[in-house]
Amino acid sequence: MLSEAMAAALNKQVQLEAASSQAYLAMASWADIQPGLQGVTDFFYQQSDEERIHMLKLLKYVNERGGFGVVPPLEQPILTFLSLKRAFEEFLKHELIVTASINDLVHLALAEKDYATHNFLQWYVTEQMEEERLARTLNEKLELIGEDKSGLYLFDRDIMAYRGTGKG
Ligand code: FEO
Repeated sequence: MLSEAMAAALNKQVQLEAASSQAYLAMASWADIQPGLQGVTDFFYQQSDEERIHMLKLLKYVNERGGFGVVPPLEQPILTFLSLKRAFEEFLKHELIVTASINDLVHLALAEKDYATHNFLQWYVTEQMEEERLARTLNEKLELIGEDKSGLYLFDRDIMAYRGTGKG
């Protein structure tokens, strides 16, 4: 059985994962109307779907452990970006917030000696390492590319390969 504090903290994470899904959906929609960014568009649509899966896993876990998984309200995310670079900077910024939040949850689980939740959270710890690495890699590539159009063409063409297996 989850403590009230743990259930509340996990529900906060549900909200953050839902916000991530919304944020990346907005990035996908923005990329979709830019010329020549089909790869980036697909990337963010898929990223948004993954975040929804992260949210669902948490919601179901809270219910399984005697809490109540709360479906959060939707907030409108940032809709437009000055450049592709700016969108990917936002992506990294967002992932760093999620990592910090997962770390806080792990800390709480240990403080409460809630080893089941600690074990459950290890999947998120690994996932965040991968997502952060991916976000950093993509930002570094865009930094290198700058305004070079052929570089941007290749970035868009190859982005799904950087993502790896694309598992959720
Ligand atoms: Fe589920 Fe990318 O944080």
